[in-house]
Amino acid sequence: MPTSAIDAPGRYPAGEAELAAFRQTVKEHYREQGRTLPWRETFDPYAILVSEIMLQQTQVDRVRDKYREFLAAFPSFHDLARAELSSVLSLWQGLGYNRRAVALRQCAVAVVERFGGTLPNDINDLQSLPGIGPYTARAVAAFAFGEPTPFIETNIRSVFIHHFFADQEQVHDSDLLPLIEITLDRDNPRDWYYALMDYGTMLKKSGANPGRRSAHHAIQSPFRGSNREQRSLLLKLILASPGISSAQLIESVPAKGNNLLKNLRQLKQEGFIREHDDKYWICS
Ligand code: ADE
Repeated sequence: MPTSAIDAPGRYPAGEAELAAFRQTVKEHYREQGRTLPWRETFDPYAILVSEIMLQQTQVDRVRDKYREFLAAFPSFHDLARAELSSVLSLWQGLGYNRRAVALRQCAVAVVERFGGTLPNDINDLQSLPGIGPYTARAVAAFAFGEPTPFIETNIRSVFIHHFFADQEQVHDSDLLPLIEITLDRDNPRDWYYALMDYGTMLKKSGANPGRRSAHHAIQSPFRGSNREQRSLLLKLILASPGISSAQLIESVPAKGNNLLKNLRQLKQEGFIREHDDKYWICS
């Protein structure tokens, strides 16, 4: 019987000394070049959740200002829960993936109704909320509540592939998780994960891009000319001109007339917009 995970032969490609060197390298990089980011200066679970939702599929530089604006407009779960969807979506413009904004507001309503406006610290409770998946639940648990729980996101994935799977293609997250678990700084998971994320960002900037060797690597499809772009544009137009007709929308959106009507129908079904007499409004 192995005495610890790292003694299990073959399963973990690293010994104690290598793990210690790895921890030291990541921490040293963080001490010297760690990023100062506004959501790292708070322990407010609401603010941390807002940042994590914004950061999904969106670059840090885009999020910085929006995060501050959002918290100024909706400083708590209570404020967000009673906000008009149109004001939430207006503020979200520029971040993309508007479904996240709808889910975040639904999440605020659920936190108020089910937990009295206080975010629970239990991972299962967190994951039961709209818009909170396995990654977000664990990230919020670590950043807001200091919970030493293993999780993976793009940058963290890159770090572990780069250090421990230098010659391997198609690395699975299930290969990485045991390493994430045994290297986790249980006394300070929050700073440890910040350090990992910053190290991963540095690797990417250096051109190494080890994430490409992940079995879960997905290339984000281009926004330009995509259906996503048209959906965003439709919402933007309806936000700017409540009561706008489909004919006016068709005039303002380049080409793709058929798609446009289909997108309007879908936006309606998804609870973004409502229609009356062929005129469109953002749902309240
Ligand atoms: N700091 C906290 N969460 C982060 C994230 N998802 N990306 C980058 N930095 C972060």
